[in-house]
Amino acid sequence: MTVDQALRRAAETLASHNIDEAPLEAEVFLMHVLNFSRVQLYSQLKRQISPEQARRLFDLVTRRVQGEPTAYIVGHKEFFGHDFQVDRRVLIPRPETELLVEKALVCGRDRLSSLENMPLITADIGTGCAAIAISLALELTGAKIYATDISLEALEVAKVNCEKHGVAGQVHLLWGDMLDPLPEPVHLIVANLPYVKDVEIEQLPPEIRGFEPRIALAGGADGLDKVRRLLAEAKGKLRSGGSIFMEIDPRQSQDVVELAKICFPTSEVHLEKDLSDLDRVATVET
Ligand SMILES: C[S@@+](CC[C@H](N)C(=O)[O-])C[C@H]1O[C@@H](n2cnc3c(N)ncnc32)[C@H](O)[C@@H]1O
Repeated sequence: MTVDQALRRAAETLASHNIDEAPLEAEVFLMHVLNFSRVQLYSQLKRQISPEQARRLFDLVTRRVQGEPTAYIVGHKEFFGHDFQVDRRVLIPRPETELLVEKALVCGRDRLSSLENMPLITADIGTGCAAIAISLALELTGAKIYATDISLEALEVAKVNCEKHGVAGQVHLLWGDMLDPLPEPVHLIVANLPYVKDVEIEQLPPEIRGFEPRIALAGGADGLDKVRRLLAEAKGKLRSGGSIFMEIDPRQSQDVVELAKICFPTSEVHLEKDLSDLDRVATVET
């Protein structure tokens, strides 16, 4: 079988199981099996692949049609222009979370410029594979970043990613509940915490519900358990003039604003919209 034929056959199988973007996914799987870039793939369409490579390709396609997310199958995911190792121990970083990084970066750069060579102390709460913490670390070289998670398994993945991106000395991984593990007050808290309501977990697509860690999704009865706690506990952990950036469910934006105003009555609370014009990030500037 040639590369071209393998691509077409894989795409047809995926499409027949209603997988969105089947041709793109077929490419991703074949690139993974052959260890090729997209350019290599398309410059060698007439090349023969071995029976073993064909078998491996269709094993991956079978896992996909059985509902496993592509990122877990190939073991990595791009986020904010960087490649992160992922597996079932961590949530797959989502494109919408890039807005959280963008907004935190603007604030972080601004704050760093006034710190005169002192480090910007930052916390990423519920770090997962550390995509947010590492993206910030790579841009804000003057930042010291604490990345916490209650899942030890997630921190194992985060460690691999910190080493892969050469930021193991800058991102300090801490195990524990919410802000408890922070050893000092911080200038900036960034968090994409679980925010799915209990009753909505079973309605999530099987690809999420059946594969991603429940601890990364479950936000309690109203979805706001973790957000509520972060806001309530942040005051004691923020330096003067510190800021909080949280990813939120757009449907909860007004509730989050109210909670933030109760915890920080004299602070500015803002909502930032994503590309779909939905409230996606809540910020508190104290
Ligand atoms: C929605 S995922 C976000 C992961 C990653 N920050 C991202 O954006 O891709 C939430 C993360 O919070 C962690 N988490 C859940 N409850 C926590 C708690 N009480 N304290 C700290 N982390 C928690 C989960 O283990 C998971 O890694």
